[in-house]
Amino acid sequence: MCGIVAYIGSREASPIVLKGLKRLEYRGYDSAGIALLNQHLTIYKKKGKVADLEETLAGRNLHAQVAMGHTRWATHGEPSDRNAHPHRSADGKLAMIHNGIIENYTQLKSELVHKGYTFTSDTDTEVLLNFIEDIRQNNGCGLEEALRIALKRVTGAYVLILMDEDQPDMLIAARKGSPLVIGIGKDEHGKTEHFLASDASPIVEYTREVIYVNDHELVIIKAGELVLKNLGNETLTPFVQRLDLELAAIEKGGYEHFMLKEIFEQPDTLFDCLRGRLDSQKGTLTMAGVENHIGQLKNASRIVIVACGTSWHAGLIAEYIIEELCRIPVEVEYASEFRYRNPVINKGDVIIAISQSGETADTIVAIGKAKEQGAFIFGVINAVGSSISRISHAGAYTHAGPEIGVASTKAFTAQLAILTVIALKIAHEKGSISNTRYRGLLDELHKIPQKARETLLLNDSIRDLAIKYKDAKDALYLGRGYNFPVALEGALKLKEISYIHAEGYPAAEMKHGPIALVDDTLPVIFVATKDSCYHKIVSNIQEIKARKGLVIAVISEGDQTIANMSDDCIVVPETDELLAPILNTIPLQLLAYHIGIAKGCDVDKPRNLAKSVTVE
Ligand code: M6R
Repeated sequence: MCGIVAYIGSREASPIVLKGLKRLEYRGYDSAGIALLNQHLTIYKKKGKVADLEETLAGRNLHAQVAMGHTRWATHGEPSDRNAHPHRSADGKLAMIHNGIIENYTQLKSELVHKGYTFTSDTDTEVLLNFIEDIRQNNGCGLEEALRIALKRVTGAYVLILMDEDQPDMLIAARKGSPLVIGIGKDEHGKTEHFLASDASPIVEYTREVIYVNDHELVIIKAGELVLKNLGNETLTPFVQRLDLELAAIEKGGYEHFMLKEIFEQPDTLFDCLRGRLDSQKGTLTMAGVENHIGQLKNASRIVIVACGTSWHAGLIAEYIIEELCRIPVEVEYASEFRYRNPVINKGDVIIAISQSGETADTIVAIGKAKEQGAFIFGVINAVGSSISRISHAGAYTHAGPEIGVASTKAFTAQLAILTVIALKIAHEKGSISNTRYRGLLDELHKIPQKARETLLLNDSIRDLAIKYKDAKDALYLGRGYNFPVALEGALKLKEISYIHAEGYPAAEMKHGPIALVDDTLPVIFVATKDSCYHKIVSNIQEIKARKGLVIAVISEGDQTIANMSDDCIVVPETDELLAPILNTIPLQLLAYHIGIAKGCDVDKPRNLAKSVTVE
């Protein structure tokens, strides 16, 4: 979704902002722009990539010590130069960038049209900007006060930054529902400088001192001083934190694409997320978020998991694992549905919110709703300091490091590892698991990073498979039990990265409809490692072969039965069926990646997709 970045200090601002926009490209966007404030306010914006904007800027005087930039993911109005941000107010004095949606913008717009305003774009942003300008003119107040009054009328989500031509040493920002991080640095002369961005990636190379702005807060940076206020004009004490992020983590490090880098990082990310938590020799699991709330968790009458996309698939696998080990009923909800239903939340219910970014708008609102009704919220989050991690009562970070590729890969397998740890810990405390099974699973979990490394050795053979199947028009992914959500995830990865239509299904459900699709051109990918459903899935494979479907099977080492029935096989290391989804997903990620590459797709930035879906 939209990315914002701004700089105010004593350096040349435009190179910092343009580099920041490139760091934010992974979020997904369709146009980019920059505003520079140096006596006069100058705005350049362009449909397309940041590189297209840079072409427009070539040879121009970009001298300014205050600048802000934006990558736009279209919501109101098509991707175009005129809808790109920054927007300029009707009096020409103000510029604004915005991430979010102003839900009552049509009402505000008609009020402004009635007063004689005209608009140069189709965006809700330009409406809000002129609304602020109008308040400033009519109330005779300053920009800060005008913004405060305007925001009280606004419904929706926003993070916005404003520039005022008449106050060139000032930036004002506000946040509700979309992320905003401020970096506080020192220039080469020791003077304070400030960076504002949607996430820490444009900031990390300049400073480690950051403030995560909360909802309903206003940031005023003027003459090198930062003031944080609430909408009631009370001054707040900013909480300055040290950023735990290495620059190398947000660069490609020799890989051609972030997605491939992140797939190959999985042995390390799995190791990192278990480090300090799992001690298989002693037979212990340490996780403060669970330990400090163990009563609440082990006595939960029900667990409701809310998430979107790939994180929702992790939730489906967690449902099976938690019910099996903890004997607590689990429901898995799409956050986008949960938030608009009237869900029954009872005392004693626990909500587990799963999110890589911790900024997914639907998940944030869904847990807010459950929290209002008294539920206990446990977050399983990757991005440290993100909104969901801050609004949860307790939680656990997945520690997979920044995920830049739009398709989620390493975050998913880290989510599975952490959710397994949580389930094991609750089950052990509750006494719903035998000691032998507990110790067996801990041993197996300990081996998972190394087995993930072995699984990655499949890369070359999967590249060959990708060449063979790249021209498929459709694909069917089938699995049973723990592997059914793996099938869903495999299908989602293929759709996202290669634009091939793919469906994931429980293998047994195939007979209730999708089998009609099967012919001698349809690749059917079975996730069929040895588990309690194994013999059933063998029959399902026979049913596909009987109809001449092309079977590609993910199987366990030494499984000659399925190997003999399949057109192609992907052999993965053996593990416990609870942990098999972690390993079985890896070849499906590689398959999607290589098919995407073979088809010439932009795998790190697939069309129409955004990394963090910060609007509903
Ligand atoms: O950051 P989140 O985990 O909350 O994001 C949820 C989905 O938007 C995300 O998983 C999406 O489906 C990815 N593109 C999947 O690869």
